[in-house]
Amino acid sequence: MDIPLFHLDWLNNRMLIALIATVHALINHSLAVGFLPLMAWLENKGVMNSGPTEITDARWDKMVYKMMWTAFIITTTIGAMTGVGIWFSVSLVSPNSIASLIRVFYYAWFVEWTVFVTEVVLILIYFLTWKNSNKSIKAKTRHIKFGWYLSVFSWVTMAIIVSILGFMMDPGNWKNDKNLITAFTNPLYIPQLLYRTPLAMVLGGTLALFLASVFTKRGEEIRTNTFKLISKWILCWLPFAVAGSAYYFKVIPETQLANMNVAIGTQAFQQWYDIMWKVILGATSIILITAILGLWKPKMLRAPFLAITLLFALAFMGLFERVREFIRKPYIISEYMYSNLLREEDYPLYKKDGLLKWATYSSTPVITKENKIEAGRNVFMLACSRCHTTQGVNSVVDVFDKMYGSTGKPFDETMMKNYISNLHNARAYMPPFPGNKKEIDAIVAYIKQLQITGEVLEGAQETGVTLNPEQSVEAFKATAEKNLAKEKTDIENIKKK
Ligand code: HEC
Repeated sequence: MDIPLFHLDWLNNRMLIALIATVHALINHSLAVGFLPLMAWLENKGVMNSGPTEITDARWDKMVYKMMWTAFIITTTIGAMTGVGIWFSVSLVSPNSIASLIRVFYYAWFVEWTVFVTEVVLILIYFLTWKNSNKSIKAKTRHIKFGWYLSVFSWVTMAIIVSILGFMMDPGNWKNDKNLITAFTNPLYIPQLLYRTPLAMVLGGTLALFLASVFTKRGEEIRTNTFKLISKWILCWLPFAVAGSAYYFKVIPETQLANMNVAIGTQAFQQWYDIMWKVILGATSIILITAILGLWKPKMLRAPFLAITLLFALAFMGLFERVREFIRKPYIISEYMYSNLLREEDYPLYKKDGLLKWATYSSTPVITKENKIEAGRNVFMLACSRCHTTQGVNSVVDVFDKMYGSTGKPFDETMMKNYISNLHNARAYMPPFPGNKKEIDAIVAYIKQLQITGEVLEGAQETGVTLNPEQSVEAFKATAEKNLAKEKTDIENIKKK
């Protein structure tokens, strides 16, 4: 409402965030949180298993170094860039929600930033001093310690962000007691942490198995030994990952679980839900089988099979993220802000006066016959464009067309009006329509025109902005002056009396 809206009509705004954030989360969990402690552990094994005159087993150490090289390159390039990319994309697409989160989690994010910078410094030290540290046992021991410090800092960055993710699903007591501590200790925080930590370890393990198969030769003793160790690692963490995900599911709020149910969910929900369970079951079994083979029949494991295991493990996590984003709807911050970036508590005002009157950048504060289509476009931008495009992914023309049986006939105006005024009851994952009756008329006229002309909605990055004259500085000044003048006469009147 207060910030001009960026819009991508072909890809869909949410998809932009989803693509960047999913890549980032997968890299973070598999190559940082879960992988780094495994590397420190394996590096240490090289030292323990070396001969009495050696500092470490040189071949073993070289292999672990190569694995760490992979993690270093990917985390410091794609990992770091997608991390910054999340900030860019959410500030463009979802400025109000990120602004709210920054206000609530200000100090948590500040700490997160210092921890992150430390993590970057530690990964530089750990990776770049590796070769030099092989010169003395003292240096090697210190190097391994740095691996452990790095692992701890990497886990802490995740542990802070997870609280914010939990908060968005269920802010808990924060609704009554608005402070950082209640926000941080939201009901979903610990369950998510208990699920993500072992999951990251399992992901790190499956990735390390695959890399070990790339960096060693078939039949080599070093390969079987590495497979055995990593398989042990996976078998230790897998039960906790499964238990953690079950616990996490148990504490998801009822209303959100209902979102997964056929009764009110769309076809899409039901499909995702079914796929999710199949993938979770499939992934858990294939990871389990891989780890058991790795421990007892390591020679049977080959790179292509390990690549498939890795993909299943990544899909396991990817689907959890997808479902998490899905079930939070219609909210972006549960029971506080809807996905259209409007706060629930402001709804009565919008319903009474209309959305357009209170939008800072609206070219049509008052709807007339002449500006009806333009007003409809403005309403669509404010109320629907965070989830729907006009002609691209999840296009509003397509969803209406599908709902009316894909006949391609012009949409029925009355049916559309009824549907939009009932949006949230029809499909619980959509927020209620925020505006007044006139605005429903306008958005219907606009969508009908979209169907005929196929025109594309451009975001503020293309069209620029028009300030709502009712929300301009001049307008506020005029009101303030009027109020001041009135106050003055009131005071004078009182004095006279
Ligand atoms: C929270 C995001 C969100 C917002 C905001 C939103 N929608 Fe939707 N809408 C969806 C999703 C997701 C679907 C399901 C698409 C599917 O089933 O493939 C959908 C489906 C629809 C459908 C088809 C429903 C059906 O039963 O098949 C219509 C019509 C629709 N939206 C109109 C609107 C209009 C008009 C607005 C703005 C006033 C709006 N939506 C706002 C997410 C949203």
